[in-house]
Amino acid sequence: MIIAIDGPTASGKGTIAKALAGHFALPHLDTGLLYRAVGRQVQLVGGNPDDAHVALAACEFPDSLLDDEILRSEEVGGYASRVSVHPPVRRALYERQRAFALQEGGAVLDGRDIGTVIAPEAQVKLFVTASTAERARRRWLEMTGRGIAADLAVIEADIAARDERDMKRADAPLMAAPGAVVLDTTTLGRDEAIAAAIKEVETYRA
Ligand code: C5P
Repeated sequence: MIIAIDGPTASGKGTIAKALAGHFALPHLDTGLLYRAVGRQVQLVGGNPDDAHVALAACEFPDSLLDDEILRSEEVGGYASRVSVHPPVRRALYERQRAFALQEGGAVLDGRDIGTVIAPEAQVKLFVTASTAERARRRWLEMTGRGIAADLAVIEADIAARDERDMKRADAPLMAAPGAVVLDTTTLGRDEAIAAAIKEVETYRA
């Protein structure tokens, strides 16, 4: 069984993907990490993420970079969003994601284009979303909880800018795949959101 989970940043899709992978004993790939690694590689070489050639060269990042905590930072997230608009970058990362989706026994993948491009044949497709204000609030709580000073208004503006770039790009824009179940987590707690997602998968398996 392939489970494809798409949605904007801080919607809860990563948490849900991890929980589903644990519950159904499936391997999980956070595809955003691949784009973050490309973005980080561009940053490390002092390149311009808006330059397609520079971004493509950065797809040769060392695998060890995937374990670097700095990939989770807002700054690297911004770089990731900028390198991800280039079609050659998306093509370079395609095979790795596709192979993961097609492994025997199935997999859970989360990202922006899993149900539309990477695994359109996925048996379960979820589009996880939440209001911009709520997503900003969650990101703010997460950052201040880690002792990082953060301004809610700045975070909300960053999230809105990232959504806009992800939804408006020509290649593989962020959108709900045909047949995807939309799960709005704005008013749901963590456990409620996970329970709702498990229910969707069980509906498919019934
Ligand atoms: O999900 P995450 O915030 O880690 O993703 C970082 C950025 O990578 C996103 O804003 C998006 O631009 C890009 N991305 C993508 N396609 C994916 C996963 C992430 O374009 N499948």
